[in-house]
Amino acid sequence: MKTMAVATGNKHKLQEFSEILAPLGWRVASIRDWLPAVPEPEETEPDFVGNAALKCGFAVAALRTADLASMPDAVAADDSGLAVNVLDDAPGVYSARFAEMAGAGSGDAANRSELVRRLVHTGMKPGDTTAAAFACAIHFQDLSGAHHHSALAFCEGRVGIQERGTGGFGYDPLFFPVLQDESVSDKTFAELPSETKHALSHRGKALRMLATELSA
Ligand code: IMP
Repeated sequence: MKTMAVATGNKHKLQEFSEILAPLGWRVASIRDWLPAVPEPEETEPDFVGNAALKCGFAVAALRTADLASMPDAVAADDSGLAVNVLDDAPGVYSARFAEMAGAGSGDAANRSELVRRLVHTGMKPGDTTAAAFACAIHFQDLSGAHHHSALAFCEGRVGIQERGTGGFGYDPLFFPVLQDESVSDKTFAELPSETKHALSHRGKALRMLATELSA
């Protein structure tokens, strides 16, 4: 089994990486298993692909400069977020810091509250939904060679202003994904089983694109 260090401390993201890549022979762990105090770089790029590459490059450089007894075989980083059409694609690349940038606290619950506040401001009422999409960019680098891969995938759907469900993370309780038959789910990502989320989600799609590259 090969080992992949994922440049994130987000347990939910790690679990999603692991559930999708373990069947393909990858043991997935956080970069913090090698570098417990590694800082997260500032996300200065204007898009998801640029920020995923930046996070991956930062983690690779940190691993290479540390004097470690063992190294992972590869490093991957994900940059993801939610774009809401009626909000001019906000929060977009600022999804993780949406509430913080508005001076409204920080973390997933604060980000959801800020999103709901902005949606209500557009005139949305309980029960209404509006078009949105999750995006996920993944950048992968093999430490033994010069292999780089980038994948970008989307999950179309709709967001509402009433939270539903306790699964998943982030904006999941507000997001109704478009299903394989192109109808909109009547359950949010936070109400759907994790296998259903993986089959539909931006991260699931990007990870399967990466997996196809890795097994080619
Ligand atoms: P990142 O960690 O800088 O990539 O920030 C991602 C932001 O988008 C965080 O606020 C996450 O909560 C949110 N996000 C990314 N993927 C998902 C998802 O699958 N479900 C819900 N929120 C997500």
